[in-house]
Amino acid sequence: MQFKTLAIHSHQQPDPVTGAVINPIYQTSTFAQEDAGVHKGWDYSRCGNPTVDTLAGVLADLEGGKHAYCFSSGVGALVTMCNALFAPGDHLLIGDDVYGGTFRYTTKVLSKYGVEPEFIDMTNPENVARAIRPNTKMVYMETPTNPLLKLVDIKAIVKIAQAKGITTCVDNTFASPYLQNPIALGVDIVLHSTTKYIGGHSDVIGGALVLKDDTFNDVMRFHRNTIGANPDPFNSWLTLRGLKTLGLRMDAHCASALSLAQFLETHPAVESVFYPGLPSHPQHALAQKQMRAGGGMIALRVKGGEAEARAVLKAVKVFTLAESLGGVESLIEHPALMTHLSVDPQVKAALGITDNLLRLSVGIEDVADLKADLAQALKLITIPTTASV
Ligand SMILES: Cc1ncc(COP(=O)(O)O)c(C=O)c1O
Repeated sequence: MQFKTLAIHSHQQPDPVTGAVINPIYQTSTFAQEDAGVHKGWDYSRCGNPTVDTLAGVLADLEGGKHAYCFSSGVGALVTMCNALFAPGDHLLIGDDVYGGTFRYTTKVLSKYGVEPEFIDMTNPENVARAIRPNTKMVYMETPTNPLLKLVDIKAIVKIAQAKGITTCVDNTFASPYLQNPIALGVDIVLHSTTKYIGGHSDVIGGALVLKDDTFNDVMRFHRNTIGANPDPFNSWLTLRGLKTLGLRMDAHCASALSLAQFLETHPAVESVFYPGLPSHPQHALAQKQMRAGGGMIALRVKGGEAEARAVLKAVKVFTLAESLGGVESLIEHPALMTHLSVDPQVKAALGITDNLLRLSVGIEDVADLKADLAQALKLITIPTTASV
């Protein structure tokens, strides 16, 4: 079955007892047992719940994995995976442009337990080859990266890591399984913040890990049960409901984002635009190879500094000033002051997370309204004329 069919029908047959077309929400913490230890496959909802397991099953199918586990947040998925796989003395190679919360957890918490994270620019796979040490346990990629939408060549890095027996993980949140399938490129574990495109409606927080094969299945199930960062059944049901339209929504996000990126690229108040679907993106060729379209996220630098960026944030009317991404409504944010506030100022400067950088999550409203909204907000930026220079 194709993606859009799987998203609706995989693991989601009409309820055999009642005929309900939509799977029920099993809002229960525990399950009756016929005899001690004899039950229908579920005993306690931290260790499994039919609604949560349905979501996990669909995600495994959409990512082409063998197993999946769902969590209360993307960060919950990250923490559980790290607890499951790392031991003191391990080295973690991680992209230098990852989500701020991933940076915070690995540098401020995971490092306390003797695991050493090392952040490198993974846009050049050679950097990964050079940084591998005998104790490197995992190569952790995020692509496209947040907020600068740099790409990492998944296949090339997997080849380097696999040759040394190192586990690979990709945070596939920005692309979603509709645009990119890291497991097909050889990756061992795919991580998602399902809060974003998978849920798609900005009304639920969740995360997931999808496993390529059986290798980490027992250890991941054990740590899921032991750590307890579980989603509740209602949240999982909401996520399942959103997931059914992921393909349709992504088509709309991508088409509108491309159109807005083209518009912004020629706007006199815009210094630069970062969007993998634009031929001007330095890794456009890789985007065409690795992704099915450019995605719904755009970063741009306005001409000027923080004051000009703040003026745009204040002036937009259809875009909402808010963190997060991947919902049907368009959002705008200032990475340096919001999502990446916890990143050290020197690191931010080195990465190019400047005061005039804005990030857009392009929703599925009419693109004409989105364009008009950005146009009226960008008008407020005074563009230096040749005469005034
Ligand atoms: C790329 C990426 N990964 C992981 C996360 C963490 O997900 P959550 O907020 O669901 O914990 C986020 C959140 O913004 C993200 O953008």
